Amino acid sequence: MKKETSPYTCHVFVCTNDRHGERKSCADGNGNARLKEHLKNGVQSRGWKGRVRVSSAGCMGLCGRGPNVMVYPQKVWFAGASPEDGEKILGEIARLLSAEEEGATR
Ligand code: FES
Repeated sequence: MKKETSPYTCHVFVCTNDRHGERKSCADGNGNARLKEHLKNGVQSRGWKGRVRVSSAGCMGLCGRGPNVMVYPQKVWFAGASPEDGEKILGEIARLLSAEEEGATR
C-alpha cells in the first residue's frame, strides 16, 4: 500500500443507499440518482473534471436527514437534498474551489 494525497480538491459523495422501503434511505423516491447525474453533468460542463469528483456512497449513518450529499475534505453536508438543489450545491462547490485557490496563493 502507498499513502498519497487525494487528487481532488472536492470529492462529492451522494448517498445512493436503497433499503427498498423497509426503512428510510437516501434512495427513496430516486431523487438522489437524478441529483447525482445533475452534479456530474455540472462538473463536466464547468470544466472541473480532475478537480471535483462525484461518487456514489453507501449509507453515511444519517438516513433520517437524507438524501445526503457530503463534500470532502471541506466537510460540507447537504441534508435533505433534492434534484432541484443541484445548482445550489454546484454554487457551493464553486465557492469551495475559489476558497481553496485563494488559500493556495497566500
Ligand atoms: S441511507 Fe443515506 S445516509 Fe443512510
